[in-house]
Amino acid sequence: MAKTKTVFFCQNCGAQYAKWQGQCTSCKEWNTIAEEVVQKAEKNDWKSASSSKTGKTAKPLRISEIDTSQEARYNTDDTELNRVLGGGLVPGSLTLLGGEPGIGKSTLLLQISLQLPYKTLYVSGEESQKQIKMRAERIHSKTDNCLILTETKTQNIFRQIEATAPDIVIIDSIQTLHSDYIESSAGSISQIRECTTELIKFAKETATPVLLIGHITKDGNIAGPKILEHMVDTVLRFEGDRNHVYRILRALKNRFGSTSELGIYEMQGSGLREVNNPSEILISKKDEELSGTAIASTLEGMRPLMIEIQALVSTAVYGTPQRSATGYNLKRLNMILAVLEKRAGFRLGAKDVFLNITGGISVDDPAIDLAVVTAILSSNEDIPIPKDYCFAAEVGLAGEIRPVTKVDQRIQEAEKLGFSTIFVSKYNKISLQNTKINVQLVTKIEDVVAHLFG
Ligand code: TYD
Ligand code: MG
Repeated sequence: MAKTKTVFFCQNCGAQYAKWQGQCTSCKEWNTIAEEVVQKAEKNDWKSASSSKTGKTAKPLRISEIDTSQEARYNTDDTELNRVLGGGLVPGSLTLLGGEPGIGKSTLLLQISLQLPYKTLYVSGEESQKQIKMRAERIHSKTDNCLILTETKTQNIFRQIEATAPDIVIIDSIQTLHSDYIESSAGSISQIRECTTELIKFAKETATPVLLIGHITKDGNIAGPKILEHMVDTVLRFEGDRNHVYRILRALKNRFGSTSELGIYEMQGSGLREVNNPSEILISKKDEELSGTAIASTLEGMRPLMIEIQALVSTAVYGTPQRSATGYNLKRLNMILAVLEKRAGFRLGAKDVFLNITGGISVDDPAIDLAVVTAILSSNEDIPIPKDYCFAAEVGLAGEIRPVTKVDQRIQEAEKLGFSTIFVSKYNKISLQNTKINVQLVTKIEDVVAHLFG
C-alpha cells in the first residue's frame, strides 16, 4: 500500500529538506521553503522489478542494430525555430520553452501550431478557448489542424490525446498542470516533476514531440526544479526587451543540435515575423553620417551579424564621470576606456561615456571591441566614421588588436552587405581570396586612429 509522506522543497531552486527552515541553504533565498505531500511508491529494488511480469522491458542492442529510420524530423515551417532546434522537431522529444511573461511564448507556439500541416493539440491551462481564438485571429493561420484544449489535469489530457491522436502536443504551461498521483498544488516542485515524467513517458512511448512552455523566476531561471531542465531534451529561451519589437530565441540545451544557433523574430500586430536577415534590422538606415557610431561584425552561433554600436562621450557635469553600457559588459567598457587612456593617450577620465548596442540585443562576442573603441573615439573627436566601414577585432590590455574566430565568415557577411572596408587584426589568418571588400589589417589602436581620424 502506498504511504503518504511530506517533504519540504525550496520553491526557488528545488532543494529538498526534511523539515521547514526560514532560509534555503542551497540558494540562500528566504521564505521559499514549502511543505508538499509526495506519494511514496512501494519500495522496489531492481531484483524484484526484474522478476515482475508487468510492463514491457527494453533489451540492450548493439549500436549498429538500432533503427534510426524513424528519426525524420518534423519541419515546423518556421526557419528560425528549425535552425535553433537543429533541423526540426525530433519525434518523441520534449522541448521546454522558457521566457518572461508577455514576451510571446504562447504566441510563438500557437502560431506554429496554426501553420503546421500536422495535427497539433494545444493544451492551455492559462487561457480560455475564447481568448486563444482571439489571439489566433490576430495571427495569420494557414491550416486548420490545430485542436485547442483547456485542461490542467494530466490524466484528462492523456484521455483527450488518446481520443484525438495528435502528431504534436503543446502544453501552455507546465506550471499549470497537475497530476492525480501527487497531492501538492499545481506549480509546486513535486507536481512539475511528476507531470514532466508522465509527459516524457508519453512522448517516448508514442514518438510524439511535446513542446512545453515554462515560466521563469525573477533571476531568469526556469521556475521549478533544476531537474526539469535535465529531464527534457531541449531547453529554449525566448528573450528580448518587452519594449523593443525584436525577440531572440536561443537554445540553452539541445540533445539533437548545437546550442549556438539563434532565431530572431519581430513582434508585430499580427504575430511574430521571422527575421531572416538580421543585419539589415540591426543597422539603422540613415543618410547623414553621425559621429559616435560604428558597425561591428559579430557572430551569433554560426550566423554572422552586423550590429551598430553607439557611443556618446561628453564632459562630466557632476564630479564623478558616469559610465553606462546597454547590451555590452560594463566592466569591459571600463577596461577599454583604461586602455584608451593609458595606451593611446586619450583623456577620457573626466568624461561621461554612454554605450549602446542598437536593437535591444546584448552581445558578448569580444570581436565587437574594436567597434566599441572606434565609436567612443569618433564621439570624442566628433568625427564620423564612414558608414561603409566595419570592424571585427578584439582589443587587448596592451592596446593591441587581437585576432578573432571565423574571420572569413565575418568578412564575407560584410562584403555581402555592401561594406567597402573591414578592419581586422593583422594576426588573423585569412584564407579568403579575391574579395571585393578592402580588408584593412591593423596591429595597434594607433593604426586605426591614424586611418580614421588621422
Ligand atoms: P504572449 O504570447 O501572451 O506572452 P507569454 O505567453 O510569453 O506570456 O505575448 C503577449 C504579448 O504579445 C502581448 O503583450 C501582446 C503581444 N502581441 C502582439 O504584439 N501581436 C500579436 O499578434 C499577438 C498575438 C500578441
Ligand atoms: Mg502565455
